[in-house]
Amino acid sequence: MSDQQTQKKSAAKAALQYIEDGMILGVGTGSTVNCLIELLPTVKLAGAVASSQVTEDRLKALGIDVVDLNFAGTLDVYIDGADEVNEHLQLIKGGGGALTREKIVAAASKKFICMVDNSKRVDILGRNFPVPIEVLPQARSYVARQLAEMGAEPVYREGFVTDYGNVILDVYDLDVSNPIALEKELNNIVGVVCNGIFAANQADVLLKAGDNGVETIMR
Ligand code: A5P
Repeated sequence: MSDQQTQKKSAAKAALQYIEDGMILGVGTGSTVNCLIELLPTVKLAGAVASSQVTEDRLKALGIDVVDLNFAGTLDVYIDGADEVNEHLQLIKGGGGALTREKIVAAASKKFICMVDNSKRVDILGRNFPVPIEVLPQARSYVARQLAEMGAEPVYREGFVTDYGNVILDVYDLDVSNPIALEKELNNIVGVVCNGIFAANQADVLLKAGDNGVETIMR
């Protein structure tokens, strides 16, 4: 097993401490979350709210009851991975294309626990990883032109359709030095459904796995 995979498993194991019996858990999407899902049969959940169809399928395959967020109320805990995280626990997410549903479930949860391996920690967001933006299909070219005017380079994620039937632009060369301002600015472009900067609602707890174990960083 690679070091990175070992770290993902360690972070997922550490996240179990935030799950209580009888809870409806918000469950993210991605390879780190998949490590957590494998461990969920060891806890007694009342159910789970899934942040993507892929996660929903995996939860159901393990016999875990998947609940519609509209009937679950406010969740106590949401657990997910990230593509990048800075010192303020602000994130870039959406590498797997599930950013909108992830942001909704995170916003509807009291506590967001983020699990990462060492490679995800950065000083400034967006230098290495593009910002994914979910866009209504008809607005794709318009939104791309607006982003180009901001000096960024949007790349259409060809062949990918989100759970909501929309498309993704992966945006390189954005200035993410003020993540809260940029998150709002991107949302203001007509045709943008959601963007992958999680700054206004950042993580509350970061579980960062490295060679020497899992470090817990609180906001
Ligand atoms: C899914 O859309 C993403 O937001 C993931 O949470 C993020 O890409 C992290 O995925 P990995 O755990 O696979 O790195």
